[in-house]
Amino acid sequence: MKIGVLKERQADELRVAVSPDTVKKLIGLGFSISIETGAGAAASFTDEVFTAAGATIAPSAGAAVGDADLVLKVRAPLADEIGGLKSGAIVIAHMSALTNKDTMKALADKGIIAFAMELLPRITRAQSMDILSSQSNLAGYKAVLDAAAVYGRAFPMMMTAAGTVPPAKVFVMGAGVAGLQAIATAKRLGAVVTATDVRPAVKEQVESLGGKFLMVEDKDAASAETAGGYAKEMSEDYQKRQAELVKQHLTKQDIVITTALIPGRPAPVLVTEEMLKGMPEGSVLVDLAVEAGGNCPLSEFGKTVKKYGVTIVGHANVPARLAQDASTLFAKNLLNFISPQVKADTKTLVINWDDEIIKGTLVCKDGKLVHPMLAQ
Ligand code: NAI
Repeated sequence: MKIGVLKERQADELRVAVSPDTVKKLIGLGFSISIETGAGAAASFTDEVFTAAGATIAPSAGAAVGDADLVLKVRAPLADEIGGLKSGAIVIAHMSALTNKDTMKALADKGIIAFAMELLPRITRAQSMDILSSQSNLAGYKAVLDAAAVYGRAFPMMMTAAGTVPPAKVFVMGAGVAGLQAIATAKRLGAVVTATDVRPAVKEQVESLGGKFLMVEDKDAASAETAGGYAKEMSEDYQKRQAELVKQHLTKQDIVITTALIPGRPAPVLVTEEMLKGMPEGSVLVDLAVEAGGNCPLSEFGKTVKKYGVTIVGHANVPARLAQDASTLFAKNLLNFISPQVKADTKTLVINWDDEIIKGTLVCKDGKLVHPMLAQ
């Protein structure tokens, strides 16, 4: 069976869906691999490195995927890319399926079998395939470095002959995968870290990283988490009390990193314009939720702006800012997703359609949208 890999064409996308390591392993599983020339260049994987790993370099997108049985991508294919796929091919990517329904429909119409990796069920067996976790972890780390790069002061306390520099105060809002890595990174840099989340289960994790947990005490909080570990949208009363607590706290923070997301919904607003006005001159807010509308309504997608003395960082596609590590982990997630579906003796792909992981990620098959969240 042939795997085709495309160069990503979105402006801010520097990642690639395979790494030299996964190319070797996929070949070991019985696949041949054709990679569009330059597909890994932005992630510092040259054509030569991929060739040495056993892949064939194709001179164009069409040559890479036109006859491929399985196509690996980072983002959902664009309209002209869908046109170049073979009907009946399997495509695996971060599809953003719930907010990208027209593309999912176009894939179905083309007869593609599409898997959306972001819909992976959050079960223990699937952890090694979880692209949201692997990419969020890197984004949480990079968010702190991005904050440090524009912050006009130091992170650690420094006692020098010329006087003492106080440590930066960092507040992380949303302590999921990205938030916890942001806490760990800010602590390593010497900051004093506080964090908040609607899921009380997170308190212990924040404290184990040396952060202080700040949270509204509320009966709602006990049911703030879905069975899959995600946050639910909170009641109006809860949101009001959370806003009051946060408002006070923000007046004393130097760096704020917001990471709060609710799957399939716009990101909750956690830092309003009013709250931003109360933040100290020279402080920094990094909004990692900017792609989902932002946790601060003043953050701008893909831009760094200054409002009321606060620098607001809204980088697009933060994982791609660490393109090589992000690609390496993303590629490994895809390999771990594919390999259980390969029969070892015959070295063929035999998909178990009853597997919870397959059912949870399958978007379209046999010309129809089949995922329960898209099929209606
Ligand atoms: P996420 O990216 O969907 O959201 C980020 C964080 O924002 C979450 O912690 C969420 O509770 C928080 N949040 C949402 N609304 C908020 C609000 N109004 N105020 C404050 N915080 C708010 O979540 P992420 O990081 O992808 O994962 C959430 C949890 O899922 C993890 O901490 C973990 O427990 C679980 N998980 C399980 C996995 C598995 O078993 N395979 C893999 C990865 C995560």
